[in-house]
Order: sequence, then structure tokens, then C-alpha cells
Amino acid sequence: MIITFCGQKGGTGKTTLSFLVAETLSRVGKKVAVRDDDPQASISQIVTELRDAGRTEIEIWDRNRAGEYDFVIVDTLPRLSSNVLIEAVKEADILILPLKPSMVDIRATLPAVEMVKENTRPGGKAFVLWNMVKPGTRISRELQGLEGMLGMQVLKNSIPERIGFTYATLQGYEAITGEDRELLQRLVLEFVA
Ligand SMILES: Nc1ncnc2c1ncn2[C@@H]1O[C@H](COP(=O)(O)OP(=O)(O)O)[C@@H](O)[C@H]1O
Ligand SMILES: [Mg+2]
Repeated sequence: MIITFCGQKGGTGKTTLSFLVAETLSRVGKKVAVRDDDPQASISQIVTELRDAGRTEIEIWDRNRAGEYDFVIVDTLPRLSSNVLIEAVKEADILILPLKPSMVDIRATLPAVEMVKENTRPGGKAFVLWNMVKPGTRISRELQGLEGMLGMQVLKNSIPERIGFTYATLQGYEAITGEDRELLQRLVLEFVA
């Protein structure tokens, strides 16, 4: 199964969430590879460093072993006109658009929502995922109401802003609290079901 993180903007959490979802699936015994469709190659760097330190079993995607993986997690570049991105969207079983809950970000993401809707393959699914939600803020309580503006299904599990998620890309799963690990498991179950 191919799970692809995409969007038009940088800084919404595509790379961080690619890693967190890959690690969550790996920790329940799945064979997981990450594929980098972003020339910055951030996810490859994160996984290579953690693998060298013995902190993860996630693999770097290898075309010759494509049939062996239970899950391929694809991190993409934030450029809508890119053919690499369009091909990645067409190929995905599950597409996830991480989005920060701010009006600026929501408006800026509407073209990406359209592009994803146009290119999702038959049988493929696409979701918006709220990321970096600040607990207790008014906008965090209004997220469900914002769903209508987006015209795309929004995942019920949202991801809070946590320093542990930033550290996880350096230190691996150790940096994530038990509570946040459970949240990530619920999130994954919500879209992999
Ligand atoms: N849920 C989160 N909580 C805290 N920091 C986050 C969270 N998601 C992303 N970040 C931080 O935000 C920045 C941008 O995230 P990144 O995954 O690189 O976005 P993108 O790949 O979309 O450009 C990084 O510094 C990352 O550590
Ligand atoms: Mg990135």
C-alpha cells in the first residue's frame, strides 16, 4: 500500500508526518519503506541517520524490492506543477494533505486540494490532516466547521504541536510519549482501515 504525503506549501509537516506514520507502522511489525520524491531528500536523511544509529527499522525504498514492502510512505515536494508530484498522486492508495489550522494556510491549500481530487486514482482515498494544532485555542475547536471550506474529507484524529514530534526526526521513536504514540496509532487506523 502506498501512502503519500503531499501539499502545495512547505512547512506543513509532510516530512515529519511521513516519518511518524512510517515509524508507527514499522513498530507494529509491518515492513515499511520511505520513498523520497522531494529533491531535498529530508526523509531519506532522517531514516538513514536513524538506521545507522540502530533506532529504526524503516527502509529506504528500493525499486528492485518494491514487492516486499507492506507500506511505502512517499514524501513529496511542495510544487503543484511538478510531474513528479502529479505522478505520485496518481499512484497513491492513500493521499494525505497535512494542513495547519490557519486561514492563510487553508486558503493557500485549495489549489492542492483540487489537484489531488483530479488525480486521485479510482479506489484511492484522499484526506486532509490537521497538523500543529495548538490545544485549547479557539481555532482548534472550530476545525470540524472548516471541513466544508476544503471540500475534502478531514481525518478526525488531528496532530497537536509537540516538541517531541520535532525531536523524533532526530532521535526516533524514543522522543514520543506514550500518549502521542497511541494518538499516532489511532490516526493510522483511521486511514489504513
Ligand atoms: N506536530 C508537530 N509538532 C511540532 N513541530 C512540528 C509538527 N509537525 C511539523 N513540525 C515542525 O515543523 C517544521 C516543518 O515540518 P516539515 O515536516 O519539515 O514540513 P514539510 O515537509 O511540509 O516542509 C519542522 O521544523 C518540524 O519539526
Ligand atoms: Mg518536507
